[in-house]
Amino acid sequence: MNKSFCMVAMSSVLVIMTSSAFAAKDRTGAEVVKAVCTSCHETGKDGAPKIGDLAAWGPRMAQGIKTLTTHAVQGYRGMPAHGGEIKATDIELSRAIIYMITPKSAASEGMNTSMAIPKFTGKDLYAKRCQECHATGKDGAPKTGDAKAWGARMEKGMDGLIASAVNGHNKMPSRGGLATISDAEVKLAIEFMISKASTSFAKQQAKPQR
Ligand code: HEC
Ligand code: HEC
Repeated sequence: MNKSFCMVAMSSVLVIMTSSAFAAKDRTGAEVVKAVCTSCHETGKDGAPKIGDLAAWGPRMAQGIKTLTTHAVQGYRGMPAHGGEIKATDIELSRAIIYMITPKSAASEGMNTSMAIPKFTGKDLYAKRCQECHATGKDGAPKTGDAKAWGARMEKGMDGLIASAVNGHNKMPSRGGLATISDAEVKLAIEFMISKASTSFAKQQAKPQR
């Protein structure tokens, strides 16, 4: 086979791969999981935690979503870097992880259009609004960092949590009282509170029971 032809063919493949990585809009968690992660996480191949299996994900979640994302980006034991698909972005990977932990959020993935340019990060929105009640547990709000309180609520799936926060739920005001924030921003703030809960869960496990 002609060597220089090979080189040209290879470099055009590289160009196509690179440009599609730039052109592509971040996919939803559901899309990434379907395209990339199901091949192992559907069946639990090589010990991969199965989609929706909270018992399997629980102890891993204790590391926090940040660490889980880092592991998915860099690879972790039998888990290949980027799930083997190098063009999967960090945001896509973290969405895919949240989706695998709470696949019931499938419907909320439809909100992806409003998800493109959030004005607030989850942390900012939390600081501006949610902490007012969720930092102290005012009126029975699940406290930020309380893994037990959030764990029970998470059984509704991310979709259910977003719906309650968007529509209001008992003493929880619709959109935390900020009418102008998007569903996507609400989701980010919830993810922020849940990621804090996962971190504190890790600390609780490391400490002996009080
Ligand atoms: C080739 C099989 C394979 C594919 C594809 C794959 N995974 Fe995994 N994944 C694994 C295995 C195996 C583990 C368990 C690793 C271990 O803990 O030993 C794992 C574990 C993980 C973990 C937990 C890491 C931790 O810190 O406990 C995350 C998060 C994860 N995968 C995310 C993803 C995402 C997101 C995708 C799709 C983009 C994906 N995986 C695709 C095999 C795979
Ligand atoms: C004025 C106080 C207050 C503010 C501000 C507030 N919350 Fe809440 N939130 C609550 C209370 C109280 C509950 C518990 C409601 C219940 O289950 O009875 C709650 C519950 C929730 C739940 C769980 C709902 C469920 O279905 O279990 C989510 C998710 C949530 N809040 C998200 C947010 C987000 C995101 C923000 C910021 C944008 C926010 N909250 C701001 C008071 C508040």
